[in-house]
Amino acid sequence: MNEIKKIGILTSGGDCAGLNPVIRAVVHHATGNYGWQVLGISQATIGLMSTPPKVMHFASDKVDHLLTMGGTVLGTTNKGDPFAFPMADGTIRDRSADIIAGYYELELDALIGIGGDGSLAILRNLAQQGNLNLVGIPKTIDNDVGATEISIGFDTAVEIATEALDRLHFTASSHNRVMILEVMGRDAGHIALGAGIAGGADIILIPEIPYKIEKVCQKIIQRQQMDKHFCLVIVSEAVVSSSGDQLTQMMVDNQIRLGGIGNHLAQQITKYTEAETRVTVLGHIQRGGIPSATDRVLASAFGVAAVDLIAEGKFDHMVAWQNNQIISVPIAEAIKTYRNVDPQSTLIKTARGLGICLGD
Ligand code: F6P
Repeated sequence: MNEIKKIGILTSGGDCAGLNPVIRAVVHHATGNYGWQVLGISQATIGLMSTPPKVMHFASDKVDHLLTMGGTVLGTTNKGDPFAFPMADGTIRDRSADIIAGYYELELDALIGIGGDGSLAILRNLAQQGNLNLVGIPKTIDNDVGATEISIGFDTAVEIATEALDRLHFTASSHNRVMILEVMGRDAGHIALGAGIAGGADIILIPEIPYKIEKVCQKIIQRQQMDKHFCLVIVSEAVVSSSGDQLTQMMVDNQIRLGGIGNHLAQQITKYTEAETRVTVLGHIQRGGIPSATDRVLASAFGVAAVDLIAEGKFDHMVAWQNNQIISVPIAEAIKTYRNVDPQSTLIKTARGLGICLGD
């Protein structure tokens, strides 16, 4: 194996809390303990396809402030597959060769890619095509990357959603209202389930368990009959009703986005229970802000482990958290399986044990 002298790092896909602490850990370990140079690539693969490539230079005494910073100082993008890249003139081009050329122009010996399953799949294709030495780190508030029990950003998102429920609790009980909190997570209900249990929700709706509106209303009426005239509902953006309906919105740029389930439920609940209902859509607040302690610890551990993988020459692997330790798995294997909520899991049993309605 060639001696490592210089590595690159990039953040790809949607941002989340914890990305900057990973960059900090990588820079500390790679420069401080191995004596390598670390280049930060701006805006994911866009930085590599630019001429000249857009980079940030990192020194170990200049990264400590990153520990508590949300977002990513490198910038990121979740648009534009480099294999079918939308050009300014409206045409679509395969820019993979430009990205590979950028890697070699920078004389990188390895690249750390921090991303979810979509980004890691793209980076792996590039690595295979261009013989790049790639190591992956999983991040996503959705926590749906198959091979790891937890991804960077998830814990902070759950903290934020829990705090939102805590705040809604007081105003719900003051006004005797049904408060609906709509959260992100795409097709995985981890955020709603975790925050729902932590924040004392009465009803948790997740995509993995199709809901019946009658069951939701029954729970609210049951509480009213017990003289509890308020109710906390947390709903994942991608839930489906038992008849298979999912709410999406067509945007002006012709993109279809998830969203709108909170308002839809509010209408139905008021119609069938006469309860006064309000909706909060938490949106990108879940992705921003100061990383939680758990995300900082995980980011530090993943960053250090990824650097060690490079030192061992174990490329085409992703670091993962399993059974209280860090392991590495081939990226192809890591992205093959999708990690959604198992309806038989401990947390689902916990929710049912607490009397929380799951809509079924
Ligand atoms: O995958 C992360 C995520 O935050 C999802 O939970 C959400 O559906 C989506 O990204 C939002 O994407 P965008 O930032 O493009 O609106």
